Amino acid sequence: MTTITSLRGGAIDAIRSADLDRKTALAQESATRWFERRISLRSPLDAPLPERPGRPDKPLLVPPTQVKKRSLHTIPGRISLLHAIAHIELNAVDLALDIVARFASAHVPNSFFDGWMQVAFEEAKHFRMVRKRLNDLGADYGDMPAHDGLWQAAHSTRNDLTARLAVVPLILEARGLDVTPALQAKMRETGDLESAAVLDVIYNDEKGHVAVGAKWFRFLCAREKRDPARTFQELVRANFRGPLKAPFNDVARAEAGLTPSFYRALTSTSQS
Ligand SMILES: [Fe+2]
Ligand SMILES: [Fe+2]
Repeated sequence: MTTITSLRGGAIDAIRSADLDRKTALAQESATRWFERRISLRSPLDAPLPERPGRPDKPLLVPPTQVKKRSLHTIPGRISLLHAIAHIELNAVDLALDIVARFASAHVPNSFFDGWMQVAFEEAKHFRMVRKRLNDLGADYGDMPAHDGLWQAAHSTRNDLTARLAVVPLILEARGLDVTPALQAKMRETGDLESAAVLDVIYNDEKGHVAVGAKWFRFLCAREKRDPARTFQELVRANFRGPLKAPFNDVARAEAGLTPSFYRALTSTSQS
């Protein structure tokens, strides 16, 4: 592994890496060294942040409509779902690291970077767990096409940290809290307890990720004397395409500090 020049340098190196073992190892190593305060936040030696993260040749990236959904009652169906989750987790690694690297000069306390490196560490763990499960089922990440929606959704918020937090943890990651319980139940119903156990770990960690997002979103709003729920709605309308999809997991969202006053007004169906 190359030298980690600083937290930002390690994050950028991980984002640039197209070798996914190296990417996830660098994410975790940078997090550990940062937690132990063995590296500084930034260094003049840090490489530039790339426009796009490093990725292997496969999977092929296609429009979201071309990614097929299949029944979870078959092994190919479960592989296809796990592949989609692996892709989400991989994007989540790069997105958490991108928040750290891109906003390393923002006026925020060091605990902001602690929170996001904890997220990056766990996303790297999630990607590896899901990939291992794919391997156990005779498949691998890259075997089928995937879509680029997550990275694109984050792109428009690259110059605004408050907007980035609204879209990435509070829209995209919060969506995971809505859909995962049904997937956990379906995996158990089909008897695939190993995949269900992987989803359990992800679900519990993701509550923490939304909480990190909500905490720092509220921090930035308080500092700028802005109303958090109204600011959230404005930023989402300006930076995220389409309405939010009900039903919401109101309990898990509220536990993470994301209350209905934030997102109810943004749904397509006003009553749910
Ligand atoms: Fe994750
Ligand atoms: Fe996450």
